[in-house]
Amino acid sequence: MSASDSTDRTHRTAHPPAASTAASTGADPAADRHMSVEEVAESYAGVADDVAARDWVDRLFAGRLRRRQFGDVDGRVLDVACGTGTNFRYLPPTVDLVGIDASPDMLAHARETLDGLGLDGELHEMDAASLAFPDDGFDAVVSAFSTCTFPDPIAALREMARVCRPDGRILLLEHGLSDVGPVAWLQEWRAEAHYESLGCRLDQEPLELVREAGLSVVDADEALLGVVTSIEADPARPSG
Ligand SMILES: C[S@@+](CC[C@H](N)C(=O)[O-])C[C@H]1O[C@@H](n2cnc3c(N)ncnc32)[C@H](O)[C@@H]1O
Repeated sequence: MSASDSTDRTHRTAHPPAASTAASTGADPAADRHMSVEEVAESYAGVADDVAARDWVDRLFAGRLRRRQFGDVDGRVLDVACGTGTNFRYLPPTVDLVGIDASPDMLAHARETLDGLGLDGELHEMDAASLAFPDDGFDAVVSAFSTCTFPDPIAALREMARVCRPDGRILLLEHGLSDVGPVAWLQEWRAEAHYESLGCRLDQEPLELVREAGLSVVDADEALLGVVTSIEADPARPSG
């Protein structure tokens, strides 16, 4: 593939933010914390270089999970909240890749990741809750460790379903509250401070979020002491 885009061609969607739906349902214990998308982007501006430098840690702990979850997608693929582009090396090199993220600092590293891998791809600065793409335009939508930081994860999940072909695939890799007591205790103990520093909900319940968004779970699998969940969701239109 050849380079065809760059982060200076990124754009912020002009769509207004979707109405917040996460707080109203009450099923997710973490849903009542709210940073704006601008505040989340600002917090990632401060850590983007560190996140990129610690890519080897991610490869060690999550590389196998990412490969298993995302390694067989094909066609036009959207990586929602692609961050520094950590997923890119695990996708087949033949995919037609589009990545979006709210943070221009993370996207700058994503561009370096694409270039380092010799891959083409479009990158756009965009809010996951208001994707500037038409309906049904992607064969697969992938996203990793993202719903924890979305100000409105329900709206973002519904947007993933909207832009994915009805017979396409939504593939998520998310962290959430462990079902191992001491691990969950640690996560809950750190939850508020972690959210304040990074806008990331350590105590979220990703499967609950997917179901609240009205998506059917096709497959789900837990790893790393129940902290990480791989989820395949059906993009058939959620109701409501
Ligand atoms: C923990 S990082 C994960 C990055 C990448 N997916 C990965 O697996 O390494 C969370 C990312 O979500 C992005 N993000 C948070 N809220 C967002 C939103 N509403 N729209 C787009 N990106 C968002 C942040 O900027 C950050 O890059």
